[in-house]
Amino acid sequence: MKIRKAVIPAAGYGTRFLPATKAQPKEMLAVLDKPMIQYSVEEAVGSGIEHIAVIVSRGKDALLDHFDRNPELEQFLREKKKTDSLREIERISALAEFHYIRQREMLGLGHAILQAEEFVAGEPFAVLLPDDIFDCPVPCTRQLITAAEEYQASVIVLGRVDAEGTKKYGIIKPHPVAERVFRVDDMIEKPGPERAFSDLAIIGRYVFTPEIFRSIRNTEPDSRGEIQITDAIKLLRQEQPVYGYLFEGTRYDCGDKLGFLKGSVSLALKRPDYQEEFRSFLKDLDL
Ligand code: G1P
Repeated sequence: MKIRKAVIPAAGYGTRFLPATKAQPKEMLAVLDKPMIQYSVEEAVGSGIEHIAVIVSRGKDALLDHFDRNPELEQFLREKKKTDSLREIERISALAEFHYIRQREMLGLGHAILQAEEFVAGEPFAVLLPDDIFDCPVPCTRQLITAAEEYQASVIVLGRVDAEGTKKYGIIKPHPVAERVFRVDDMIEKPGPERAFSDLAIIGRYVFTPEIFRSIRNTEPDSRGEIQITDAIKLLRQEQPVYGYLFEGTRYDCGDKLGFLKGSVSLALKRPDYQEEFRSFLKDLDL
């Protein structure tokens, strides 16, 4: 099982971030000095991915521009001898081979992923949701790919959550099979603490076998008319086993305003170039 392709869904309206997302894509909001989506792209590339399909919608042109060349800016930086910036700008557009696919209607995450069926062309593939930023000793998607290769199956990333988290994430019914590895025996989208099977949540990274597309097509829309990937995975596991992998590392849920703030502060404290000054600034705050 060789995994060379990844899909990054980035078509949503970003309603949890309004008004910041009224005229710009949520995925372009910067955590420190990089747009959120660049973290996902770098993680994918660091995991061995070569081809990336970004699922976009109206108003997402800035995403396409970000990963494209910008000859005028490159020329300007060259003339000004801003070599470091120039190198960085050139590096971003050479990260991977990018494809952009339009999702014309917002019909849920399952539907967004289905748009990549032709791009995926029958291969196993990874999915990265750009809201989640991971800081791991081994890139999170790489950890999943290794597990998928070992089990020759779809693998979803798991993290432990508290009662509040059961309202925000898909929750699985786990059957332990090895250290950090669980067979997924059932799953439910955002059940809340009363209906949750466990404290193991799905948090934004997946590796799928191509059979997921048939499952998505057979998935009934939920009460809001959306096709949930969680429901599609439930169908997939009737055909073949699906595993969950408790990743090693730290994850920041930057998908809402408070999470974004927490992620930004935590990541700033790890950045060698301004860690020290920022730490002393925080210490001086009269809390
Ligand atoms: C989606 C999935 C959910 C998963 C979450 C991870 O939800 O439907 O199962 O736990 O991503 O971030 P969303 O955040 O799009 O509502």
